[in-house]
This record gives sequence, structure tokens and C-alpha cells, in this order.
Amino acid sequence: MNPPPGRKASVTRINGPVVTATGLAGARMYEVVHVGELGLVGEIVRLNGDQATIQVYENTTMLKPGAPVRCTGAPLSVWLGPGLIGNIYDGIQRPLPAIKALHGSWLGRGEKIDPLDPASRWTFEPVVTAGETVSPGQTLGLVTETPLVRHKIMVPPDIPAAAVRRIAGKGLHGLTETVAILDTATGPREITLVQKWPVRVPRPIRERRPVSQPLLTGQRIIDTFFPIGKGGCAAIPGGFGTGKTITQHQLAKWSDADIIVFIGCGERGNEMTEVLREFPKILDPRSGRPLMERTILIANTSNMPVAAREASIYTGIALAEYYRDMGLDVAVFADSTSRWAEALRELAARLEEMPAEEGFPATLPTRLAQFYERGGAVTTLAGEPGSISIVGAVSPPGGDFSEPVTQHTQRFIRCFWALDTELANARHYPSIHWIRSYSDYVGAISGWWKKQNPDWTELRTEALTLLQREDRLQQIVKLIGADALPDAQQLILFIAELLKDGFLAQNAFDEKDQFCSPARQAALLQVISQVYRKSRSLIEAGVALGRIRELPALRRLIHVKTIYGNEEIAQITALSQQIQAELDGLVAERGAP
Ligand SMILES: Nc1ncnc2c1ncn2[C@@H]1O[C@H](COP(=O)(O)OP(=O)(O)OP(=O)(O)O)[C@@H](O)[C@H]1O
Ligand SMILES: [Mg+2]
Repeated sequence: MNPPPGRKASVTRINGPVVTATGLAGARMYEVVHVGELGLVGEIVRLNGDQATIQVYENTTMLKPGAPVRCTGAPLSVWLGPGLIGNIYDGIQRPLPAIKALHGSWLGRGEKIDPLDPASRWTFEPVVTAGETVSPGQTLGLVTETPLVRHKIMVPPDIPAAAVRRIAGKGLHGLTETVAILDTATGPREITLVQKWPVRVPRPIRERRPVSQPLLTGQRIIDTFFPIGKGGCAAIPGGFGTGKTITQHQLAKWSDADIIVFIGCGERGNEMTEVLREFPKILDPRSGRPLMERTILIANTSNMPVAAREASIYTGIALAEYYRDMGLDVAVFADSTSRWAEALRELAARLEEMPAEEGFPATLPTRLAQFYERGGAVTTLAGEPGSISIVGAVSPPGGDFSEPVTQHTQRFIRCFWALDTELANARHYPSIHWIRSYSDYVGAISGWWKKQNPDWTELRTEALTLLQREDRLQQIVKLIGADALPDAQQLILFIAELLKDGFLAQNAFDEKDQFCSPARQAALLQVISQVYRKSRSLIEAGVALGRIRELPALRRLIHVKTIYGNEEIAQITALSQQIQAELDGLVAERGAP
């Protein structure tokens, strides 16, 4: 949309990423504008008569009052179509590899490069025929985007029931070529392989469904103790260097989602470089194909403009919704939502909004809710199940969880993986604290686990109870020392150590152990449970704990997780039998029945 004739829209004031302009009567809220000679991309965030406040996504250095402002008539939108997977974008969906290939550098100011290459060609296979009636979200045809992703070209959600007038045959088509013409009540609509969608608007669904399947991550403390469901929302808060990024990388690598969207927002450049360097080399454990064939990366590091960091979360979730609409399970990782909240704080301060707790804007809880609410298990417009799981890292200053971002986030998530500085200092990784963490999804997904192992609930509850009892006993140990405790209580300390070292600790860099299948998780937990139950009855029968501890097979137990991989469960069972035999031997020595 253009400003009214005779008035030229121009910049009046510049305050970092926040720019005020005049001559913008007729412009709309959240409309994208191009600012200055370079055409820096910005978004109108406040309108007052013909005055607009614009949040600029690029560095405004050298911008001067009087510089021109041009409206685009469109809200901040993403391009949706084949070619997204494997790509790396900045916060407003500018393709970083394409920019690098063009200029040899990452980002030039005012750079306008289409998010998807308009010249790209894809093999389109129609699945409807001319004359058919189609409804919003219905698949018109398929494109093999990568060997792992069958991309559905869908009727856009804003098109009501329509008749297919023409549909392209199977063959190569350009991204922006018309592949279908739909006759709608308001006239014909041309469908290309690419659609646009405003990032701040959730894509419509038919209905929400309850979470019922686990999002398997291969990380024992998560899958077994504090599981997240497909469509669930989790937060991973932790102080500096406690393992937020590594844990999220682990989940992005190993979780059984169809699509991964990783949003690196506001973290150090080198953390993102690691992702960029590492992810393309990693093979997906299920398919053996490169992980990037199901991954989209969004990189908005700490040295990039704050406004684009604010947008990056919405860009990421909009892309996730598009793949969910294809009936896929998508997992979104945001590292870190605190840096995102800091971007909100900086922008709010420059907009001279009244600050609330710790200078964050009063809208912080709403903004967090708007992000996490876009997660969930749903029935898509086409009637298929699909889901978006969200895992947000939170970096509370000083590791203090009482600060606003952690507190408000807790209202919108149902799974909390609390990273603990002491555990991290002791090199116990993942440093997720077993007492302070929780998951509300246990009930919803226990049905799935019970099918794998009928004893799952019992094993899990027993292990968590033991860890809680140990936590309480440690208070007494601090006062009187462990040796003063009776054997039955020392056994709890002993088994808790086995659980911590032999089950919960999981090295992200260990070839055999970085991914633990559900069956191996259950097998490892079962061995420890059997040791506990048998030892408890032995102690009741008068056998000294010292003799149990000395058993050679038991000493191997904490290393079993790194000795036997996911395909070697039989060996774990064999070791368990050996331990049982050695424990039985103790009974025999005493001459017990
Ligand atoms: N599961 C793990 N296995 C092995 N090492 C780990 C694991 N998790 C964390 N670490 C170790 O902890 C270090 C810090 O982890 P990470 O960078 O993920 O922390 P962070 O919380 O993201 O830090 P920051 O606050 O700086 O963003 C890693 O370099 C690694 O050595
Ligand atoms: Mg980090």
C-alpha cells in the first residue's frame, strides 16, 4: 500500500532498532515497510494518525531523519513450500546459505533474497483430479522435498470449499508456477508450490487433541522420568553452562519427530556455528539419512539485530505449523527464550513502554503464552493427526528460577527439566535435577510405555521414590555420616548411586550411550530394580550390605550403559542374571533357605 499522494513517508526519529516515521496515514498495524535508501526491513508496531513507530529488523546505523519509508501492504510473512527443509534462515526468513553463496558474506543490510529459490523446480504429483471438490488443508499434490519428507501441496487455509478447475500432471514444475486453479465462491484462485503466511497468526486447525504419544528423545532422564508427549511443551531452565544447548542438541538429533525446527535465538555465534557445522554431518538414527533432511535451522545470534530475534520465534513456529498441517510431528527448539525476552525488553524500553518486573514489558506472559499455545497435538484441517512439541531453553541470571521468564514460562508448559549447577559442576550430565523437575505428561503416555514394558509405571515410581528418599537421607548423612545409618537405609544410598551413575547420567558424546532406545532404558532400570529388591530381602535376612557391594558383577553395573548398546539388550539381561546368581550365592553362603 502506498501513502496518500502528495505525502512522502519519511523517518523522523531513530532510536536503535525503533524508528518513528511520518506520512504513513493509511498504513496498517504490523505492515512491513522498507526504511531508508537501503530498504531496511521493518514492521509497524504503533500507529497514531500518520505517525508510525517501526521496529527495524536490521542495523539502523547511518540511517538519517528524512530517509524515505515505503509500505509493502503485507504483514511479516513466511514463504511456505518445498526447499524449507535443510535450509538455514535468519529471524525474518532470509536464507543464510543463499546470501553467503551470492556475496561470500552472511548478511548485507537491506538484502532482499527470497526465502525459497523461485527458480527451483520440483517434481509435483497430483492426487486430485479436475472437477473434484476440495476443502481447506486438503492435499492437491505431493513433492518429494528430501528423501525423508513427502511435502504436501495443500489448499491454503483461507480458501473455502472449491472445485478443481485444472490440476497439473506429474512432472517438474517451478516453485512459482501455477499447478492448480481452484474455482471458489469469490472467483478462481491459482495455486503454486509456494504459499505465504503471516508469522504472527496461528495457522488454523480443526481441533486440539489430547497428547497420547511420547516424543521419544533417547535421553533416559527425559523419556523414563520426565517425559514429553508429542504436542507437549517443555522448558529447560538452567544457569550459565549447565547444559541447555547440549541437551537441546541431543533432543534435536535423536527425538522421533518427523521435522525439527531449531531456533538459535540470541545465543553466542559459536554455539550456532557448532550446530551449523555438526548437524549436516549427523545421520538420523531411524533412517540413516542426514539429519538435515528433516531439519530447518533459524539462526539469530547475539550479534544480530534484536528485533529480528523477536521475530525469529514466530518465524520458526509458523514453519512448524505448516509441516504439522501435513499431518507430521514437528519438534521446535528455542535456545534461548530468555534472550528472546531480553529482545522484547530492549524493544519495549525503546518504545518507552511502562516496564514491569525486572524491566520486562507487562506483555511478557502474554507473549510467552502466544508462543507455547502454538504447540499441541491437533487434528489438521484435512482431518489428520499432527503435532508440534516445543522445548524452550530458559537462561535465568545466576540460575535463579524465581525470575520472571522462568516463572511465567512455568504457567504455559507442562514439563520442566530443571538443570542444576551443582550437578553440572560435578560433571553429572544431563544435569537435570530429579527432584526439582516434573512432567504432567506421565499419565497421558503411560499407556504407550506399558505396551513396551508392563512394569514401566512401577519401575519408574520405585526409582523416583528411592531418589527422593535418598535426598532426605542425605540431610541426616550430613549430620551423622552414612556409616551410622542402618544397612536398610545405606542400601537406599547405594541404589540411588547406581541409579544416578548407571541410569541417569548419559554422556552426549558417548558413541554407545548418546541415544538409548526405550527397550534399553527399561532393561537398565529393570536390572537396578532387581538388585534393589533382592538386596532388600537379603538385608532383611541379615546379609551385610558390605558383602553385596563387593560383588564383581554389581561393580560392572554402572558401566553397562556404555558397554552394551541398543542392540545388545540380551547381554544386559545376561548380566542381570549373573548378578542375581551372585546375590543368590550370598544367601547360600549364609545357609538361608
Ligand atoms: N549430556 C551431556 N553430556 C556430556 N557433556 C555435557 C552434557 N550436557 C552438557 N555437557 C557439558 O557442559 C558444557 C556446557 O553445556 P552447554 O553449552 O549446553 O550449556 P548451556 O547451558 O547452553 O550454557 P550457556 O548458558 O552458556 O548457554 C558442554 O560444553 C559439555 O561439556
Ligand atoms: Mg547455551
